[in-house]
Amino acid sequence: GKVAVLLGGKSGEREVSLKSGGAVLAALQAQGIDAHGFDPRDKPLHDLEVFDRVFINLHGRYGEDGCIQGALEMLHIPYTGSGVMASAIGMDKWRTKLLWRAMNVITPDFELVTATSDFAAIEKSLGLPLFVKPANEGSSLGISKVKQAGGLQAAYKIAAEADPLVIAEKFINGGEYTVGIIGDGKGGYQALPIIRIVPKNEFYDFEAKYLRDDTEYLCPCGLSAEKEAQIQQEALQAFRTIGCRGWGRVDFLMDDAGNHYFLEVNTSPGMTDHSLVPMAAKAAGISFEQLVVRILELADV
Ligand code: DAL
Ligand code: MG
Repeated sequence: GKVAVLLGGKSGEREVSLKSGGAVLAALQAQGIDAHGFDPRDKPLHDLEVFDRVFINLHGRYGEDGCIQGALEMLHIPYTGSGVMASAIGMDKWRTKLLWRAMNVITPDFELVTATSDFAAIEKSLGLPLFVKPANEGSSLGISKVKQAGGLQAAYKIAAEADPLVIAEKFINGGEYTVGIIGDGKGGYQALPIIRIVPKNEFYDFEAKYLRDDTEYLCPCGLSAEKEAQIQQEALQAFRTIGCRGWGRVDFLMDDAGNHYFLEVNTSPGMTDHSLVPMAAKAAGISFEQLVVRILELADV
């Protein structure tokens, strides 16, 4: 049947999505699939009715947060990835962390920050440096690392421009890692090999993600096989706790003592040529073409 690849959209991650969607569209077409690009910023959603399946490659607001998923439910068109609830919760770092805490998935300490917060008290309780993040945003947009006492308020304002819901998160000194997850087509899930990310910037920010060519990606990631397997299992639990489906990516940090902390789940991860899930899939012997076809097939399950 006819497949729509959703790309672009109107979030802060529009440009990333155009790249992700472009790569997916080309791969599907190369497999002989009748795939067409569809940018929901430019076209009414009911135009999707002529398609049999939708591959969602939108990132961020409206595309990764349950909005488009809800619209597709109403149109009765199968779509890739997580459903309405998991997309909405996964987009929201605060509610993700609340659920993880409740289910004993380890995540760095955090506090909600509002315009009337006692900024000095939050700096004191979480310690410095700390991270400030818009709860509903992706690709590290709006994130700051606060190093100096008194810096939280300015960082809060930057984050609040992206989303009024802002969290402060304890800094974990160590490495950044990620676990790609994909359905096996039989109702189970496979955690892909873990990738360690070594950014040359202060952290794995937007520039390190998409603009710089010197960010290092290590796969194998350098952990022992036993530790890697244990964290993969926990990542699957983190994914299931949010109710995710199809595929996704769970990011975590590991401190110098070997303690790991889950940061967030991405329900519509990047699929650009810099992106992590395609890299991890390749390490597992799954080509980019095989990956996109598998994600598409999971839309029907
Ligand atoms: N939010 C970006 C696209 C990612 O998680 O890959
Ligand atoms: Mg994200």
